[in-house]
Amino acid sequence: MRYQWRAKDHTIEVTDTNGVVVASAWVELDLRAEHEYRAYLHGEVVPEYRRQGLGSYMMNWMESQAHQFFATLPNDRPCVLRIMFTDSRQDAVELYEKFGFQFFLAEDEMHRDLKQPIPSISLPTGMNFVPWSPGYAFQVYNDAFRDRPGFPNWTEAVWRQNFTGFDTFRPELSLMVMAGEQPAAYAVSAVESNQGWIVQMGVRPAFRNKGVGGTVLAEAMRRFKTEGLDTAALEVNVNNPQAARLYERFGFVLVKRVTIYHKVVR
Ligand SMILES: CC(C)(COP(=O)(O)OP(=O)(O)OC[C@H]1O[C@@H](n2cnc3c(N)ncnc32)[C@H](O)[C@@H]1OP(=O)(O)O)[C@@H](O)C(=O)NCCC(=O)NCCS
Repeated sequence: MRYQWRAKDHTIEVTDTNGVVVASAWVELDLRAEHEYRAYLHGEVVPEYRRQGLGSYMMNWMESQAHQFFATLPNDRPCVLRIMFTDSRQDAVELYEKFGFQFFLAEDEMHRDLKQPIPSISLPTGMNFVPWSPGYAFQVYNDAFRDRPGFPNWTEAVWRQNFTGFDTFRPELSLMVMAGEQPAAYAVSAVESNQGWIVQMGVRPAFRNKGVGGTVLAEAMRRFKTEGLDTAALEVNVNNPQAARLYERFGFVLVKRVTIYHKVVR
């Protein structure tokens, strides 16, 4: 064998005869979701060393590592392998498909410079911003996302865990809109270094096309700016042109596309 393999702590490196790393792979277990166990497979082969079987070797190695992880976990929910990548490298996609992975989703990461002016617009008459309420936000989420492809029908506990159950979640920067007694719209906010993230937002169908989504976006950006942040960021599914149009109108620009392939293994 022309290469040397070094495996340590769920990472493997392939070096050439001069000791230069030409490929590496590692497996990351993600136990945050309550409805499934996930393992993310991360691998890279430098371009000159592609098409020589290194990718397949590492896929097998990563899958076997993931199976070892999963074997230590209770058999109470599905186990899913995920591969996340940012370029549209068709050769890599072929490899993933050969290993039984399927397209899961693609999302565009978009950023908005908060130094640019933020439109000063207000909610339609009779609607108000109120403090963050996870119960109301979940009601809006269910109604707003029910018609989206692949709607998972999560319980409130699972939704809260997935969208607000992390250290960077900021309830005071998150938004809740009421139309009288009825929850109408929401946005979940998080902060990572100098960026304010709109993790998820939705407007109930009955309140759409009245400027509510735009006003929620503008208010989130205002709060991020007051917080001293430089950029507003969000991700939008590539199959959601309506939301993408809204973000573009408010000055968000595409930064990168992230695609996820997945395989359910148990
Ligand atoms: C995407 C979403 C948040 C937009 O909310 P919204 O309240 O309808 O947003 P707005 O009213 O500000 O803008 C929507 C449209 O109404 C138009 N509009 C805005 N104010 C208006 C008004 N006063 N009168 C008529 N039309 C108006 C906008 O120009 C826009 O038109 P376009 O779709 O042709 O670009 C909403 O459709 C939604 O919740 N979708 C499902 C969940 C989702 O996809 N969330 C985003 C995930 S990343």
